[in-house]
Amino acid sequence: MNNKEFNQSADKSFRVTTSGDMEVSTYLEIAKEIGGEKPVATGEAVSGVETEAVVVIDFGSQYSLLIARQIRELHVYCELVSHETPWEKIAQLNPRGIVLSGGPASVYEHDSPKIPAYVFEKELPVLGICYGMQAMTYQLGGLVEKSLKREYGHAVLHISNMDIPLLAGLPEAITVWMSHSDKIDKMPPGFKSLAYTENTPVAVMGNSKNMYGIQFHPEVVHTPQGKQILENFVYKICGCHGNWTIANFINDSIEKIKQQVGDGKVINAISGGVDSSVVATLIHKAIGKQLTCIFVNNGLLRREEAERTLNVFRLNLGMNVIYVDATERFLERLKGIVDPEQKRKSIGEEFIKVFEEEASKIGEVGFLGQGTLYPDVIESTSSANKASVKIKTHHNVGGLPSDMTFKLLEPLRYLFKDEARQVGIELGLPEEMVWRQPFPGPGLAIRIIGEVTPEKLEILRSADWIVMDEIKKAKLYRQLWQSFAILTDVKSVGVMSDYRTYGYLVALRAVTSNDAMTADWARLPYDLLARISNRIVNEVALVNRVVYDITSKPPSTIEWE
Ligand code: XMP
Repeated sequence: MNNKEFNQSADKSFRVTTSGDMEVSTYLEIAKEIGGEKPVATGEAVSGVETEAVVVIDFGSQYSLLIARQIRELHVYCELVSHETPWEKIAQLNPRGIVLSGGPASVYEHDSPKIPAYVFEKELPVLGICYGMQAMTYQLGGLVEKSLKREYGHAVLHISNMDIPLLAGLPEAITVWMSHSDKIDKMPPGFKSLAYTENTPVAVMGNSKNMYGIQFHPEVVHTPQGKQILENFVYKICGCHGNWTIANFINDSIEKIKQQVGDGKVINAISGGVDSSVVATLIHKAIGKQLTCIFVNNGLLRREEAERTLNVFRLNLGMNVIYVDATERFLERLKGIVDPEQKRKSIGEEFIKVFEEEASKIGEVGFLGQGTLYPDVIESTSSANKASVKIKTHHNVGGLPSDMTFKLLEPLRYLFKDEARQVGIELGLPEEMVWRQPFPGPGLAIRIIGEVTPEKLEILRSADWIVMDEIKKAKLYRQLWQSFAILTDVKSVGVMSDYRTYGYLVALRAVTSNDAMTADWARLPYDLLARISNRIVNEVALVNRVVYDITSKPPSTIEWE
């Protein structure tokens, strides 16, 4: 959510688009590389009622994942696959239709991605979007040409044929979002033009075999009736039944977890974060006491966080939870460390040690539960080959010892974050936990600039408590990606009751974001900022100044360290 949307939606509930809740389980990421089980075969994600899916073939558009999300919101299971994925894998999903995504390439570039042959051979309904439409045109014998003018932004689409199912229910003219520089010069044999814009004579085309091409992007919010077009495609053209529901997903996953685990044991690290909480609850629902959760309190949590988390899992949900208060160990390990990466590394290593010690007491454990989500899966597949510069070590801060050979149990790996949240709600997790803002694995340690000490932790906890309290009272907690306090190592002079003070500087950070990759500083109301500042200097000893961070990411990052 950007600031404009944030301001407009103060009261509306807000759905986060991708996973950003990197929590305790990220330490265990490395387990994937050490004998972690391969993902459950695609296509197993929905069954029980009737397996069906629409498959999006990804040509690299920044909106590809959005197409899948939109289709899932229509209760049709949808997966994003690479254009190199073989038909055998796709067939397991029982596809009822195929969407060809947009992409940055031009069909005439010699290495541009091509539509796989099965798309034309299997006679399934096809919807080519932008590049998908152009590739379809090119491969089926039509002509694509460079536009003299790149068309980017809003355009008015005039529908010339109102009777076709793809455009059913739409008025004669609608606003659509365009982003292309190539356009269709000559349609392939058998295709008819169904709609046009001022600059694009063929903006929608179709043939009698249920193959359609659209030049604009129905998946983005800037095409207000785009959802109707996708709905027409999946229901009227593909004949889907709409059986992708959270309840079906839960039933299905429970069955699968039971089968996969048999009478084995599963361990799961919990932190109170959304992903690990939902995955633990789902696994618990499936296999009950065969699951043991390990909750390591690293002493870097926020006020009352450990108690609340423990209450939910142990008392409310009746789970086996091993709770380890390792505060002393972590603080000892952090003594004298000021470098942020060193903090992360030490916390990660210490966590693994504690986790391993506890896991070894349980006896033979076959599986490790992890809250991996679909965007993480897509991200790790698509970024595997990309060279990127390390900014911060979010993942793999420790590394599990190589003799830990659990199989991975990742029942959420095909879910978007908002779907995982719905699973949590259905399974009875408290709203407060399901809607928790992301909190970093190294916790408050990376919000204390410089050395972490018990005194500084206490100061930060008190300040953070006030921030959270006021943000929640202002009903902004869910709209913000994150909102928190930072204890800087700056001290400044102040005056209180006619006395000079020399106290800490606390910084406030509140950002809007969809995925934590980019973020904008939130335009919080001045009176809210005033209340927070006032309360912090009055209620938190040793703090006499509060500042608000007004930088976005990039160039800053969300956390200060
Ligand atoms: P930055 O500061 O890089 O943060 O803009 C992006 C998102 O990641 C979270 N974050 C972390 N999460 N371990 C985690 O599990 C880490 O070391 C870590 N560092 C940053 C941050 O809270 C934000 O949501």
